[in-house]
Amino acid sequence: MLHIQNLHFAYGGVTALNDVSLEAPAGAITCVMGRNGVGKTTLMQNIMGLLKPASGSIVLDGAEQVGRAASARARSGVALVPQGRMIFPKLTVQENLKIGLQANRNGLKAVPERVYETFPVLKAFLARKGGDLSGGQQQQLAIARAMVGEPKVMLLDEPTEGIQPNIIQEIGRVLKRLAGEGMAVVLVEQYLDFVKEFGDGFAVMNRGAVVASGAIGELTAEIEREFLGV
Ligand SMILES: Nc1ncnc2c1ncn2[C@@H]1O[C@H](COP(=O)(O)OP(=O)(O)OP(=O)(O)O)[C@@H](O)[C@H]1O
Ligand SMILES: [Mg+2]
Repeated sequence: MLHIQNLHFAYGGVTALNDVSLEAPAGAITCVMGRNGVGKTTLMQNIMGLLKPASGSIVLDGAEQVGRAASARARSGVALVPQGRMIFPKLTVQENLKIGLQANRNGLKAVPERVYETFPVLKAFLARKGGDLSGGQQQQLAIARAMVGEPKVMLLDEPTEGIQPNIIQEIGRVLKRLAGEGMAVVLVEQYLDFVKEFGDGFAVMNRGAVVASGAIGELTAEIEREFLGV
């Protein structure tokens, strides 16, 4: 579904992505891991089109995305759930969800009912301001907003950061179901237990490069020690 090859990116003179290649197949949760500052968010922003790589290729369904605007990529089926959630705090839950419609590829005019079935708490709080939700509820809203676009690829940047365990589990189950329906899920995650429970494949980054990748069963204690331990 998503093929990334030899991606290079620098902030001014500082290299942040060094020859990154990554495969994210449909129907699977591909986990991007690595310590703070290794380039995970930079990679997601390059995929979404918010940052422009110096070189390399990002192919979605056979079509090159490098050079296309973020809005065009969204309409082609890429959605990003950004680090820190970035919902609109002054807008209601319903208004936040409606923003997701702009990216909908199928011309949908209303938030699909299945979004509410997935996150019943949001249906209960439709008129509430986003900023008045708990952190976990805001994260669910951010994922729901991405779902409204009915994307082919969903990028999630550390969705479990600062979230209580029961909601983490719920998020894991939702991602598993979305992947089961054929979506390519790219999950940036530092929480190893979550990756092992819900992930299918992994790529570990260090200093802007992918230093290990494979099926989740190939994530060895050695890799954890060298690149993921604190
Ligand atoms: N706007 C920016 N300008 C300059 N350097 C930046 C900018 N954003 C990030 N960096 C640097 O690029 C590198 C990669 O940052 P990035 O945010 O992609 O890491 P990350 O893996 O997402 O980290 P974290 O786990 O803390 O979210 C870091 O060294 C960071 O300091
Ligand atoms: Mg980050």
